[in-house]
Amino acid sequence: MPVVAVIGGQWGDEGKGKIVDLLAQEANVIVRFSGGDNAGHTVVNPQGDFRLHLVPSGIFSPDAVCILGNGVVINPDRLLDEIDQLKGRGVDTSRLFISDRAHLIMPYHILLDGLEEESRGGKAIGTTRKGIGPAFADKVARSGIRAGDLLDREVLLERLRLAVDYKNTILTRVYGVDPLSLDDVYEQYCRYGERLAPHIRDTGVMLWEAVDRGAAVLLEGAQGALLDPDFGTYPYNTSSSPLAAGACLGAGLSPAWLDGIIAVFKAYCTRVGAGPMPTEIEDETGQLIRERAHEYGTTTGRPRRCGWFDGVAARFSARINGFNGVAITRLDVLDALPRLKICVGYQLDGGNVSDFPASAAALVRCQPVYEELPGWQADTSDIRRYEDLPVEARQYLSRLEELISCPIKLVSVGQRREQTIMVGRIW
Ligand code: IMP
Repeated sequence: MPVVAVIGGQWGDEGKGKIVDLLAQEANVIVRFSGGDNAGHTVVNPQGDFRLHLVPSGIFSPDAVCILGNGVVINPDRLLDEIDQLKGRGVDTSRLFISDRAHLIMPYHILLDGLEEESRGGKAIGTTRKGIGPAFADKVARSGIRAGDLLDREVLLERLRLAVDYKNTILTRVYGVDPLSLDDVYEQYCRYGERLAPHIRDTGVMLWEAVDRGAAVLLEGAQGALLDPDFGTYPYNTSSSPLAAGACLGAGLSPAWLDGIIAVFKAYCTRVGAGPMPTEIEDETGQLIRERAHEYGTTTGRPRRCGWFDGVAARFSARINGFNGVAITRLDVLDALPRLKICVGYQLDGGNVSDFPASAAALVRCQPVYEELPGWQADTSDIRRYEDLPVEARQYLSRLEELISCPIKLVSVGQRREQTIMVGRIW
């Protein structure tokens, strides 16, 4: 059975939660590989409506094993809260495992995320303030605390002593705020350790064994390609790689094992936080999309910026990920619009640009070149077969497929599992 990665093709919030929930029904192992509780996945299934931030959406498949891989940063408080909520609603969480190599979000990461954002003033990134950037910075700086450290109190205290001492210097001397108490943080994390211990494992070994016995493995992306630290709109990006290559690293498996890379693209674009977004619609059409689709962040509640489908960004995303199948979500949101635009190129400083620029400053100056297509102005939310879609909707989807240069395998026309049009096989 294959190993398939589900990757956000845009700026996150593409509806990956629903696609993973669907595919997870046939998966044996589901792995989150990047980000942390900055992610927010909405899942609507027969068990109810759920908003997940850390626990993989595959938790609803009764026999599947769920893993938070080494590439995820974990806020133990938020994870335990999510586990408690799921348990309280009858969902079995005993099959959830955490990589002993995964880094932990500490109280000083959350404090520093907020303080750093404040200090950026008008140039703030618009982070989720969940401590994600500071936690990944510590991982790379070799001063992080890992899930495995929770299993050895002496190691934990030793690592914490160094970290808290250093962070307190920054908190007090740079930002003039109160220091943290080493004892309080230590006791708090010992308590988390007690509760999380049964879940903490070498998940790389579990994964290797699963692949070896032919299990179906689903790698669940968070965020989207355009938020990647290398390829996103730097510095307006997140701090871990949401790409297919990041999936292998963050799950702890070889790229040679990857059989499928499925992109999730919204039928239009959204973005939360600051940073360039060439196709943003700032008039009432943008407002209409936001309200029809309830485009407000699952994690922060912030209104999402809405825009037309950006073919330049999509082509770039396809190139750096190597997608071999696409899921288009939220087609039904466009049902109400009489005309639709698709961005097929940019104009930059008087010239044509067909590649996504590296510089955020250049991207801000990019003017989208649009193609206009007729809308279909009909309800698609009850349609289940591709051929039953209005001809204008099929034309629109064909154009997206051409721009992404990858076959559409699935079209989503609503939040519920059954509101899905299967076009081709994914597993
Ligand atoms: P951070 O990941 O909290 O550091 O935020 C960095 C940027 O990534 C900000 O623009 C956030 O809005 C954005 N971001 C982080 N996680 C998500 C997500 O799950 N969906 C959409 N945007 C996200």
